[in-house]
Amino acid sequence: MQRYTKPAMVLHWLIALLIVAAFTMGLVMVDIPGFTPTKLKYFSWHKWMGVTVLLLAAVRLLWRHGNRPPPHPASMAQWQVKAADVTHVLLYVLMFAVPLSGYLYTTAAGVPVVYLGLFQIPAAFAADPALKAVLKPVHYWLNMAMAALVVLHVAAALKHQFVDRDDVLKRMLP
Ligand code: HEM
Repeated sequence: MQRYTKPAMVLHWLIALLIVAAFTMGLVMVDIPGFTPTKLKYFSWHKWMGVTVLLLAAVRLLWRHGNRPPPHPASMAQWQVKAADVTHVLLYVLMFAVPLSGYLYTTAAGVPVVYLGLFQIPAAFAADPALKAVLKPVHYWLNMAMAALVVLHVAAALKHQFVDRDDVLKRMLP
């Protein structure tokens, strides 16, 4: 069996963990009423996790460029190969689009992002309330699209493991 490379596995599972954590924290933090220190802390953690996803996604894309993934098993139907390829491309797009929309929303809100409390990420443009109103639902709906694709992706991995009983999931496991 041909596995993914070690760096590809590390990046896959690290990014997966960070996305689940940032997603959960996003839903929790927006439901905290008022402006409490806990809410502000959660917003910061959320942004740090999101920015880390963006950085790791860039590393992952570069790595994938030079290291092709193992081929799909020959037993897979053509429509499944197409569906897997389209899902993977969309997940790559959303790995960038979701954190970028969060950064752009925060920038439009006029709030600086201080990564890990250490480095201030430059604002791409000045605060813009009209743009802020547009980018808030954009960040939300890109997240919902990503969540739907992640559910599909996990369901497909489990089908490969327990129904098809092929090596697809094992190739991403150490
Ligand atoms: C993988 C990365 C990310 C994920 C999965 C994610 C997920 C989420 C989710 C689920 C929400 C709740 C949306 C709602 O219920 O309205 C949210 C809100 C938010 N996110 Fe993100 N996010 C990510 C990256 C970022 C980044 C990089 C930033 C900023 C630098 C950011 C800034 C925000 C802000 C400010 C809100 C609050 C929106 C409001 O004012 O209601 N996010 N995020």
